[in-house]
Amino acid sequence: MEGGMAPRAIISTMNRRSLFALSCSAVVLVLTMSAAMQDRFPTGPGKAELVKVCSSCHEPDNVFAYPQTAGEWADTLQKMAQLGAEATPDDWRLIEQYLDANLALIPINAAPAVELQRTMDVTEAVADAIVKHRKEKGGFKSVDDVKKVPGVDASKVDARKDRLIF
Ligand code: HEC
Repeated sequence: MEGGMAPRAIISTMNRRSLFALSCSAVVLVLTMSAAMQDRFPTGPGKAELVKVCSSCHEPDNVFAYPQTAGEWADTLQKMAQLGAEATPDDWRLIEQYLDANLALIPINAAPAVELQRTMDVTEAVADAIVKHRKEKGGFKSVDDVKKVPGVDASKVDARKDRLIF
């Protein structure tokens, strides 16, 4: 009887070993995947906080699948808080700033100056100049139009060309 136990014991040890090896590669895979996912996020203040706070229930890159304006992001963040997302007030502020500066859609002919300050990453004076320009000239029609506003940095506009809504 005992002689018959040995092979089974060996097999079960082997199974445990391969199971261990398998779970190790699974862990490596998950770590690699999450590292790759973090790389989709442009560098900037609030990135670390977003990845930390927004990873516990779903992938943080959910944010890429739901393009929205700054106002809509504010609503989404409130919704996530209601669903149980936990962060300090500072972290919430940083996450919102990050979303506004890096991901938000920009209704350039409709957004108020305070919103443009955040989404276009410009000073109050330049945001006011954008609003003044669209009032006086009847609205922007292209990315190049936006670059004509005095004080606007063309490279910042180019970086946002896929997010500008005319
Ligand atoms: C406590 C869990 C939890 C955390 C933490 C969390 N979410 Fe969500 N999130 C959800 C659930 C649940 C849904 C699906 C809601 C639905 O289908 O109505 C969702 C959906 C979303 C969606 C899809 C659009 C929508 O409104 O349903 C976006 C975008 C999103 N989350 C962004 C975020 C961001 C950004 C953070 C970090 C600030 C975050 N989530 C943190 C639970 C969470």
